[in-house]
Amino acid sequence: MNTKVVLTGIKPTGTPHLGNYVGALKPLVAMSKENKTFVFIADLHALNLIKKPEEIKKHTYEIAALLIALGLDLNNAILFRQSDIVQVYQLSTLLMNVTPKGLMNRAHSYKAAVEKNIAAGQDEDAGVNMGLYTYPILMAADILLYNTDEVPVGADQKQHVEFARDIAEYFNHTYGQVFKLPEPIIGEDTGIIPGLDGRKMSKSYDNVIPLFAPESELKKKIMRIITDSKLPEEPKDPDNSTIFQLYKQFATEKETEEFRQMFVNGGMGYGTAKTILFDKINGCLCKARAEYERLLSDTSEIDFILKDGAQKAGAVAANTFEKVHKAMIG
Ligand code: ADP
Ligand code: TRP
Repeated sequence: MNTKVVLTGIKPTGTPHLGNYVGALKPLVAMSKENKTFVFIADLHALNLIKKPEEIKKHTYEIAALLIALGLDLNNAILFRQSDIVQVYQLSTLLMNVTPKGLMNRAHSYKAAVEKNIAAGQDEDAGVNMGLYTYPILMAADILLYNTDEVPVGADQKQHVEFARDIAEYFNHTYGQVFKLPEPIIGEDTGIIPGLDGRKMSKSYDNVIPLFAPESELKKKIMRIITDSKLPEEPKDPDNSTIFQLYKQFATEKETEEFRQMFVNGGMGYGTAKTILFDKINGCLCKARAEYERLLSDTSEIDFILKDGAQKAGAVAANTFEKVHKAMIG
């Protein structure tokens, strides 16, 4: 096992979909087999978006169940809920004092909100709350509390991890060496998984296939994938086909090559291609889906795992926080 500390957070803002699985969850589960891993459900980060506690709770359980069902290695990985760790609220407050406001102004997500407002002729900060504005500080607190070496994230989160590193440097410079400097790890490019309409699969586009949709819903969604209007006998372009792009994420190289040939040669209608895709995805996921459903049917096992995780993570967090408190306040 590696000695590096790996940490990542997953925001409970929606039911995870196949894009999340391929781009983030599958690599994370693989990583947990090799490293000491902290994985938490970033419910505090969801608060600037979701105002219904029952929704946050539902998605929190879903993500926990999903990670356990996918085989997160609980011998190496500490799985917990962000909000269970009091030191993360405390550390965020303290980090505010070493974080330049200008750094927050440069955050991609804040800038995107401002640009959208300006384009719509509104006040530049319309709809922006301080949760969104200080999001990177809370994220820095998450990362720095656990002496993290590496943070596997999607490319969209790279800047936040770099900010955590900057904030750690400002702190260490002012108060002496307390924090380790974390590095973002952007996984090998799994490519962008397309959604039902061919655009990037994303909950914002409402074009997702939920990872653990019941079998009948999975089938229905797959049958709804938009295709061009080529007839069964015509040759088809696999590289521009959502069906093919999804298939190759679940199939072996040999199977992928065979499927490619069926596209290129013609003779296979899209209906058949979709059935082949459904059988493949369903075959790969059905065992984990049963486990996912079992875990969600009675959440006491998840509660136990999250509580155990919070105790373990809390011990590390308390230790770091004590050092920070001592360095800053005495
Ligand atoms: P959404 O776009 O649905 O809001 P998130 O931004 O919450 O998804 O995604 C969390 C992580 O899941 C991303 O950082 C990325 O690694 C992965 N991911 C999401 N959508 C895709 C996709 N379509 N293809 C590949 N990876 C994806
Ligand atoms: N901001 C991340 C996202 O939207 C979630 C997150 C919160 C996170 N805290 C983190 C990721 C710490 C890595 C490390 O996906």
